[in-house]
Amino acid sequence: MAAERGKRSLIHDPAEGDKNKITLVRARGSLVWDDQGREYLDFTSQAWSNNLGANDPRVIDAAIAQLREIVHARPNFNTLPLLTLTAKLRDISPGDLNRIGYCLHGSLAIEMAIKLAFKNKPDRHNIIVLQDAYHGRSLTTMAASWPHPKNAFLPIQPRFTRVPHPDPYRPRLNLDVEADSRLCLQLLEDTVSKGVDGGVAAIMMEPILGNGGHIELPRSFLLGVRNICDKFGIVLIWDEIQTGFGRTGKMFASDYYGIVPDIMAFGKAIGGGFPLAGIMASERLDGFEAGDDALSFGQFPVSMAAANATIDAIINDSLCDKARDLGAFATDRLREIMGRRRLIGNIRGPGLFVSVELVKDRITKEPAPKAAVEVYKRGLEKGVLFGESRYAGLGNLIKLKPPLDCTREQMVFALGVLDEVLGAIEESGRY
Ligand SMILES: Cc1ncc(COP(=O)(O)O)c(C=O)c1O
Repeated sequence: MAAERGKRSLIHDPAEGDKNKITLVRARGSLVWDDQGREYLDFTSQAWSNNLGANDPRVIDAAIAQLREIVHARPNFNTLPLLTLTAKLRDISPGDLNRIGYCLHGSLAIEMAIKLAFKNKPDRHNIIVLQDAYHGRSLTTMAASWPHPKNAFLPIQPRFTRVPHPDPYRPRLNLDVEADSRLCLQLLEDTVSKGVDGGVAAIMMEPILGNGGHIELPRSFLLGVRNICDKFGIVLIWDEIQTGFGRTGKMFASDYYGIVPDIMAFGKAIGGGFPLAGIMASERLDGFEAGDDALSFGQFPVSMAAANATIDAIINDSLCDKARDLGAFATDRLREIMGRRRLIGNIRGPGLFVSVELVKDRITKEPAPKAAVEVYKRGLEKGVLFGESRYAGLGNLIKLKPPLDCTREQMVFALGVLDEVLGAIEESGRY
């Protein structure tokens, strides 16, 4: 059978735990179905990207209408959906982030942001990133991310300077969160002034660390980094590829924290399931010149049309408010569950950017990655796709990041499954 032969010829090995990778055939809202007719509640929104819910008819209709007009236009041309989208993004962009550029993947948006920073700081040679960052899997962004344990690509990757950041659940030296934040800011400032040769062009960070362990950085740290960038004339890049378009309960984490970077990378949710990413940059920065940045399909009109419909739907359906309310409901319920399930060590937000950290012992905070894999497997059997983290961070997170229009009933069901499987894992004693 073609599907079986196809499976054997795939070049990417399935990850541990995915040996029987599911073949998806259909998706609607928060639900997906596999080729065996099984239904799952998708609490991963796939790559945390279906904020609007899968296959929203408004997005599909917009994409089909666009398909009938023009499918492909190289970057030497404008298209109507491109211009409409740019005006729309300008309307919702934080602060003066009013100049916008596009590509199709988050990793390339990050590369675009890095290029723009270097373009604006031609005499500086370094980019600083946070130690638990995740910025993608292209050669450059992989190097800017949490160190890959088996990185075979080092010989041709650029070098970034990694600095420590606060971790509210595991502060250094048992400091309180604010003291940990001050310490990290001091270390960052020392690194800027004495830790690198050749000046710092940009500091790049996710406002909430995602794949590297879902770490909610204290606002004092975010603000402190903004101040250091202002003091030293450094470009501040925020990677909002995962936090953007309502996930935190606001349109962007920048709105949530009230802090505006100089460049913001966006991606994932903007396309309503279609590939699209890009950057918003401050009007104070110079833009690209011809030849600096162009990709054959980077301005894919079908994705642009889908994105226009997606942004309208996020606004019209008040999905930011829904994310805030359902997220608060979820974290309250998780606190209740934590009262009876000792594996839960910590609950993180905000909005529908929700995770729980599983630990063997709440005092020592020893991570329980095996339990996380087990929750994923047992969740699957019970019809819920939970997110987990296997490559970066401590590997012990369970992520609950459903589409923002997930219903309260679906949330209650998924939390019930989580409660039940945690109970069974605790009882088995194997974690
Ligand atoms: C914060 C962040 N930045 C960048 C990326 C890379 O995006 P993409 O996979 O579209 O290249 C991701 C993807 O998970 C991400 O979460």
